[in-house]
Formats: sequence, C-alpha cells, structure tokens
Amino acid sequence: MFNFKCLLCNAKYACHFILKKMPIATFLLHGHLLNGLVLGVYEKEGETDSFDLTTAARSLDDAVSGKLSELLKISGPALKKGKNRIFYGLHEDFPCVAVVGLGKNNAGVCGSENWDTGKENIRAALSAGCRLLQDLEVSHVEVEACGDAQAAAEGAVLGLFQYDLLKTKKKTKVTTQLHGSDDVAGWEKGILYGEGQNLARLLMEGPANLITPTAFADTIEEKLAPYSERVTSSLHFFWVQSQGWIVEQQMGAFLSVSKGSEEPPVFLELHYNGSPDKTQAPLLLVGKGITFDSGGISLKPPSGMDAMRADMGGAATVCAALVTAVALKLPINIIGLAPLCENMPSGKASKPGDVVTAKNGKTIQVDNTDAEGRLVLADALCYAHTFSPRAIVNAATLTGAMDVALGSAATGVFSNSDWLWERLHQASVVTGDRVWRMPLFQHYTRQVTDSQLADLNNVGSSRSGGACTAAAFLREFVTAPHWAHLDIAGVMGNKDEVPYLRKGMSGRPTRTLVEFAARLAQEA
Ligand code: BES
Ligand code: ZN
Ligand code: ZN
Repeated sequence: MFNFKCLLCNAKYACHFILKKMPIATFLLHGHLLNGLVLGVYEKEGETDSFDLTTAARSLDDAVSGKLSELLKISGPALKKGKNRIFYGLHEDFPCVAVVGLGKNNAGVCGSENWDTGKENIRAALSAGCRLLQDLEVSHVEVEACGDAQAAAEGAVLGLFQYDLLKTKKKTKVTTQLHGSDDVAGWEKGILYGEGQNLARLLMEGPANLITPTAFADTIEEKLAPYSERVTSSLHFFWVQSQGWIVEQQMGAFLSVSKGSEEPPVFLELHYNGSPDKTQAPLLLVGKGITFDSGGISLKPPSGMDAMRADMGGAATVCAALVTAVALKLPINIIGLAPLCENMPSGKASKPGDVVTAKNGKTIQVDNTDAEGRLVLADALCYAHTFSPRAIVNAATLTGAMDVALGSAATGVFSNSDWLWERLHQASVVTGDRVWRMPLFQHYTRQVTDSQLADLNNVGSSRSGGACTAAAFLREFVTAPHWAHLDIAGVMGNKDEVPYLRKGMSGRPTRTLVEFAARLAQEA
C-alpha cells in the first residue's frame, strides 16, 4: 500500500497499487477532475536562457503568485521552440499545466520558407502540449490562443487526431476549449479547418476493404447530412451517380480502370450553392479516388503496397474541403467531383497496349495500367468543363516522381494560370501546407502525344520528369483558362516531417484548399 498527499487539497489517502504505465496525475491529484491547460512561452529576444510568458501564461502566473515563472526557472534551461514541460498541482482549476515553447514572438511570414513561421510555431507547440496531456489521460484541455486562436485550434485538433477506430485500446478522447482569449470566431474557424483535414486523414488511413468507393461516398454523404435542411434553400445538394450514368457519359478511360475490380465504381458529385448570386460560376474541385491501387496488370511490387489504400487522397482532400466550406458557410458556389474505383488485376482488367476512348473522344494507349490516376481524371476533367467553371482545381496522388522531386515539403502545382497559382500560393503561406509551382512545358506534352496506336500514351516516352509528363497528359483534357493540377503523392503520408501531425496519412493539403476557397469567396 502507498500513502500520498494530494498536491491540490493536501488530503491524505492510500493507493493500493501503482501500475508502471499509470499517469502520475491519477494518483498525485487524488479525486480531482483531470483538466489540463496548455500555455506558451516565447524565447526572449537577444537572450539565450530567458523567456517571455504569453498574456495568458502571465495571468495564470499572477493568479499563483509567480509560481509558474519560478518553476520554469528552476526546472531547467529556458524552453526552446518545440520543447515542453508539465507542472502538476499549480492551480486548482488545472491540475496539469503543459507549458510549450513557441520560439520567437512575432516571427511572421518567412520569404524563404514560404510560410508564416509564427502560425506554424503555434500549431506545432499546441499540438505537442495537447498530445502530452492526452498521453496522461487528461480528458479536457483548455488551450490558450498564443495571439492566433485559429492556428491554436488547428494545432490542437490536428495534434490530437489518431486513427484508432480498429484498435481495442483507444487513445483518450479529449475535449478542447479556448482559454484566456475572446477570439471565439478564430478558434471555431480553426476547429473546422482542423476537422476538415482530419476527415481527409480518416478516409485516407482507413483500410481499402472498409473504404470502398461506395463507403467513401456514404461517409461524405453522412458528413453533409447535418446541412441537408439547407438543401431547400439550395445551400447545397448531393447525389451519387450510378454506374449506368458513367457508361452513358462515355467515360471510357474511367471505366477501363474500374473494370478489373469487383467493387462497383462511383462517380461522386457534390454541389454547394453558398453564393448569394445563384448564377455565379462554380469553383470545380476534382479528386483522384482510387480506393486501392494495386497497379492492375502492371502490378506494383508488394513492399509498401498497403499505402495505396490512400490513393484516394485527392478525392478525400477535395471532398473534405467542400464539407468544410459548407460548415463555414462560405459565400461561394463549389462543385466537387470524385471518380472512385479500385485499380485491380483480373481477367477483366485492362492490359498494357489496350486503347480506350475518353469522354472528349481522345484515344489513349494504356501502356502501363499503373498510370491509372490520369485516366480517371481525364474523364472527370472533361465532365468538370460542362459546368462552365470559374476555375478547376484537381488533386491527385498521381506520381511517385512527385515524391522524388519535392518529398513531403510541398504539393506540386502545375497550372496554366498565373492568377490561379498566385491564389493557391497565398493560401498555402497562411496554412503552412505549402505548394510549389512545377512546369507545364510543351517538352513534356510531346512525350505523351507520342503513341503508336492512339492520340495519347498514358506514360511518357522517357522515364524522366514523371510528374511533369503526367501533368502534360492531364492538360490534354483541359480547355478552361484557369486550371491547376495538384500532385499530392509526396505529401500523402507523414512520418515526422510535419510536427503537428502524428505518423500516418496526412490529409494534406485540405486546409490550403479551404483557405483558397475562402479567399476566392471574398472576391467578386
Ligand atoms: N498512385 C500511384 C502514385 C503514387 C506513388 C502515389 C507513391 C503515392 C505514393 C500512381 O498511380 C502510379 O502508380 N504512378 C506510376 C506512374 C508510372 C507507371 C508512369 C508511378 O509513379 O510509378
Ligand atoms: Zn498506379
Ligand atoms: Zn494511383
């Protein structure tokens, strides 16, 4: 038997057992509700081993007669960016206080990094603080804004996400609340941005036997259901087209990919009419939705093939962005399109050398059945043009070459429009989920129009520049003046590169798409 004195109320009590993995707070804070608080500290300008408390941290420090700053001084060197410390029993309302290092105050936009360092630091620090408390099984966490309630909420929501649906032992469910700031609007916006990205992560991480094309569409339909009342006021509406419709639409390229699988393909079409101007041309978001990419007859090697359950990342991020735009009530019209199917080898599958006809009548020689993303997107892009769009943005885990080129630092953007590129870039600086412009030279077009049997070949005549030849292929299905193709293969997963995301499928760049749409909504 162990005897303790509660750190908060001094009550003496006995504990009959202590498990090695038991959080310290569960026995040192006997009987108190496990509430946590995350506070930030800045590195002091020009001084190496000193710190500045944020406004919220200062007011807690005042409430406990300077005990917080005293503890920070005696518990080790001043907290550097990304480092943290936890204090128990400091304040009656908050048995556990996590203090996180924010780096320098007012860091702002960094020209060479192409992001807002201050916002990124807040996301990283608060994510780490929330995760620390979650690991201690603290179930309610108050989070300070650190001067940017939206970035703080994003850090908290993204940091706490863990895909444990299929595990018996789950992570502690943590509720979060804004602390010491009245920017509730910024906080709520950040929650929606973070939840949007988490929806894409949920779909991408989910195994392919559960996230089939039909299950994907059902999940999005469920997410949109709370807003169905607004259908009558034509805020948005939703429907799933059947396979018959796909045949009717003469989407021969999409069907050639789906026919090797037993799972029926789905062409998901979402309409959100948020603009007060009902006649406003819509923003078209199109996403590659391969719920599993085995490579087909051009079968992939087995190592790492499981990651191809996330080959619907394009569909996941654009649909999650649309759901978020609806939740934010953005005053804009958006149409989301996702061709969803599996790419599987079978007696019915496409064979290398087969020729298929896309919706616009162009013929394609399929020399490699593993270059299937461009086939499903070709038909979806043709269909997108029927809505006379304001702009078309497609996202796709399209090429391994994109990962080789930029890794997970940024999404590669291929665009025929400086206007569109500028807007996507500006949005990404704010979200920290970066984009980088890639070329659409005729040089690459020549490599995909070089086909023995058809108008186009689905692989380039040279192996070099694979991300660029894939983009050049897609361009053959675009006549709109404002189009951007986002190759998200490199940013599909996270190991430890983005500090505020746990390991796993990343849901990138959902927040950049949402921010882009939000900014576009402000333009006439
Ligand atoms: N889905 C893959 C691309 C991919 C690879 C995404 C790694 C994420 C991580 C795509 O369908 C594919 O297989 N592309 C081929 C194209 C090639 C055959 C021209 C590739 O990149 O190897
Ligand atoms: Zn493939
Ligand atoms: Zn693929």
